[in-house]
Amino acid sequence: MRVHHDIVIVGGGLAGLRAAIAAAEKSKKLSIALISKTYPIRCHSVCAEGGTAAVLREGDSFDLHAWDTVKGADFLADQDAVEFFVRESPKEILRLDNWGCPWSRTEDGRIAQRAFGGQSFNRTVFAADRTGFHEVHTLYERTLMYPNIVRYDEYFMTNLVIEDGAARGIIAIELKSGDLVLFEAKAVILATGGAGRLFGFTTYSHQVTGDGMAIAYRCRVPLKDMEFFQFHPTGLVPSGILMTEACRGEGGYLRNKDGERFMERYAPERMELAPRDVVARSMWREIIEGRGIESEYGPYIALDLTHLGEEKIEERLPLIREAAKKFAGIDPVEEPIPVRPVAHYTMGGVHTNMWCETPVKGLYATGEVACISIHGANRLGSNSTAECLVFGRVAGEKAAEYALSTELRHVDDDIYREEEKRIFDEFLGRSGDESPYQIKKELNEVMDSSFWIFRDGNGMKEGFKKILELKERYRNVEIADNTRKFNTDMIYAFEVGFMLDLAEAVAAGAIARTESRGAHYRLDYPERDDENWLKHTLAYYTPDGPKLEYIPVTITKWQPVERKY
Ligand code: FUM
Repeated sequence: MRVHHDIVIVGGGLAGLRAAIAAAEKSKKLSIALISKTYPIRCHSVCAEGGTAAVLREGDSFDLHAWDTVKGADFLADQDAVEFFVRESPKEILRLDNWGCPWSRTEDGRIAQRAFGGQSFNRTVFAADRTGFHEVHTLYERTLMYPNIVRYDEYFMTNLVIEDGAARGIIAIELKSGDLVLFEAKAVILATGGAGRLFGFTTYSHQVTGDGMAIAYRCRVPLKDMEFFQFHPTGLVPSGILMTEACRGEGGYLRNKDGERFMERYAPERMELAPRDVVARSMWREIIEGRGIESEYGPYIALDLTHLGEEKIEERLPLIREAAKKFAGIDPVEEPIPVRPVAHYTMGGVHTNMWCETPVKGLYATGEVACISIHGANRLGSNSTAECLVFGRVAGEKAAEYALSTELRHVDDDIYREEEKRIFDEFLGRSGDESPYQIKKELNEVMDSSFWIFRDGNGMKEGFKKILELKERYRNVEIADNTRKFNTDMIYAFEVGFMLDLAEAVAAGAIARTESRGAHYRLDYPERDDENWLKHTLAYYTPDGPKLEYIPVTITKWQPVERKY
């Protein structure tokens, strides 16, 4: 089956929804497909809890937000992109306000803001602790106003179509029928999110398997800075559910087994509100040095909210209370929450410039799938939802301008037939003696051990070897279900294949980078090395493994300095 639109957006989360609206606003003439692996309102963006950073008040400034972001990024962010980002973010907050987003308010009715890590001013706008949920619903409702946005829910992208150096569309499986659909388009926007399910202990929903990154990579679009993976300090033990940074922004403490607020020793000025890389490392150190609290699920750190009182917790952190009760059996009003650092965000992604343009004409990437790069080596909390809004709009507008000035080129039948053969003749129902579930489990184990918060050359090389072994075993993977409709077995196997390629890119970049910067911390190279490593990594797919190249970081105003908190 073949359909065509002017623009195809893959991903129905915050960035994809925002891109769709921006493109639809540009012109009623544009036909826009919004393709989503789940229903948009079940996208992973709804799990964003704590808020969205934006400069709204006197006392704060664009320069201050940009400086916090650049310093938080350990100077690997592109500063032109950061400067643009901080100026645009407040406009998005007001736009969503006009569109009905129920932001939390101050007593006098202004949009409320709370503290988040690494900020010099409390600039995180929020809707209690369900910010992403409300943002997604606001945008989703807004998309319904535009008849030229056509939704394709529960379609799984299997490939991009690129011919003569330009994007021509994508190919996807409609899950309910099992039909393969070729979406022809003048422009394609990837908004498929991060790759957090590479790790086992993670805040990510199960659907976040890096599909867009891996497909682009296989199509020879480079991935940038994949070695930088964020570990959020506070994942609920044992599930990994996000216990938002807002817990600390609202005044919560981190304590070790002696009841000590140990952040005093690591970040005496910012304490629990140092950036995430600093807090996660400090917690991990407490744990490996034996000052964690023992439990049947291993040692943990206590996130103590008990002094905040029930009223504040109910008003500001109701979801946290509910989740802690349901999934850890404790009420944070009465007892500290058991937490451990947890894989949370993919700083790397598809290489784009600050207009979301990839090296392929007509192919854009936005949101977590993209590496623009405003987060560099370590993202500040609440800059991600802001990025999705700001750069979702940019991607939508840029793709619309491009589509309005381009003719649709039809894709050759052979391309569709080859993909059909690859999926239904060679992949579906294949027999083998390897289970994709087992391979994924082992991949998670290796990522959680070799590419976790503290890394070192030998451990990473061992991990790399294991990833290659898993890739080899994957060639013999079995897909037990050989029917077409809702074949979740086959989709899972696809996802595992994607994650193996991405793991290889993470590992290659991390082994090569012989320094510590932001979230990439090496015990064998504990210092930042600006002379040799103030540069972005680009990983190119080759059949023999990733080929690495490097490009400079854009510096406008802020030269790297020592990072203290
Ligand atoms: O902690 C949080 O609420 C997460 C926010 C973020 O990753 O930006």
